[in-house]
Amino acid sequence: MSALFEPYRLRELTIPNRVWMPPMCQYSAAPEGPGTGAPGDWHFAHYAARATGGTGLIIVEATAVAPEGRISPYDLGLWNDTQVEAFRRITGFLRTQGTVPAVQLAHAGRKASTDRPWRGGAPVGPDAYGWQPVAPSAVPFDEKHPVPDELTVEQIRAVVGQFAEAARRALAAGFEVVEIHGAHGYLINEFLSPHSNRRTDAYGGSYENRIRFALEVVDAVRAVWPRDKPLFFRVSATEWLEEDGWTADDTVRLAAELRAHGVDLLDVSTGGNASGVRIPVGPGYQVPFAARVRDEAGMPVAAVGLITEPEQAEKILANGEADAVLLGRELLRTPSWARQAARELGGEVHVPEQYHRSV
Ligand SMILES: Cc1cc2nc3c(=O)[nH]c(=O)nc-3n(C[C@H](O)[C@H](O)[C@H](O)COP(=O)(O)O)c2cc1C
Repeated sequence: MSALFEPYRLRELTIPNRVWMPPMCQYSAAPEGPGTGAPGDWHFAHYAARATGGTGLIIVEATAVAPEGRISPYDLGLWNDTQVEAFRRITGFLRTQGTVPAVQLAHAGRKASTDRPWRGGAPVGPDAYGWQPVAPSAVPFDEKHPVPDELTVEQIRAVVGQFAEAARRALAAGFEVVEIHGAHGYLINEFLSPHSNRRTDAYGGSYENRIRFALEVVDAVRAVWPRDKPLFFRVSATEWLEEDGWTADDTVRLAAELRAHGVDLLDVSTGGNASGVRIPVGPGYQVPFAARVRDEAGMPVAAVGLITEPEQAEKILANGEADAVLLGRELLRTPSWARQAARELGGEVHVPEQYHRSV
């Protein structure tokens, strides 16, 4: 029996297999008007295709908890009820395929207000639907980014509340899992790292102070997210800095704290908070970080990053390095990767009746 196609139970949720889709921004929502931040036809077709392809769980792309928390003006959001209604079409369809609908709740912090990557991805101002970004400290990401406004304590509390409100809306929208985006140099990650957090109040300085915002967000979300539903957290396990940065040791320590605060699974990525670093990219390059968290913190983990081959994915699970694998760009190339891998490895996967003649 293939480990990749064994169901996985977290709290009261059973996920049909271990082939999952990580959040991937599509930058395809309206930047203004009543449908701002709401998914449309593109999002429906995109997520539906990976669901009919047998993907066990789909984490919908970074979805902003407030307009100024979007990476670009074209991001999805969950700050109003129009957005909730639009998401229901996607979650409803995913459910018909047995795919678990999850959503990544995000605030982009100092990396907010940028253009779509295929238009260069540079910071944009009000003339292109942009805005002034906020951050733990007035430290820009790099020389191309504007200096962000430093959040006041009152504003920090407001953002914590926005995460909770977005989680409440995620439930109304039909999601079964919420993932808090604590990675890639966005707001929560900016608080965690001494590289971006230079505060001298209760939210900066010591390790305990730097993780305070992350724990407050987790507590606020867990308080409104049902006890029977899992909560994920995505972390950048290292920022690949020689000194001063957030490290793999910090991640193991944080994982234990998150577990105590009701997080059920750590989605282990890396990087994104420091510009100009060298990342040793290669097949499965982030898997060792996931394995360490699973081993040392006893926290369930999903591994991500250049996992593309069925045998490779199967080994990661069989070796006990992760509880699930996330395939990003490979699922963009091959929406029915799970079905093909099941064929190769001898696993069982959902195939829509309409496609039965293809098996
Ligand atoms: C088009 C695209 C959009 C992405 N958007 C997000 C995102 O919204 N949130 C996030 O945490 N990671 C995002 N990522 C990172 C992926 O989730 C994943 O971690 C990364 O692509 C590495 O996995 P892969 O090698 O399987 O693609 C994005 C990646 C791509 C290619």
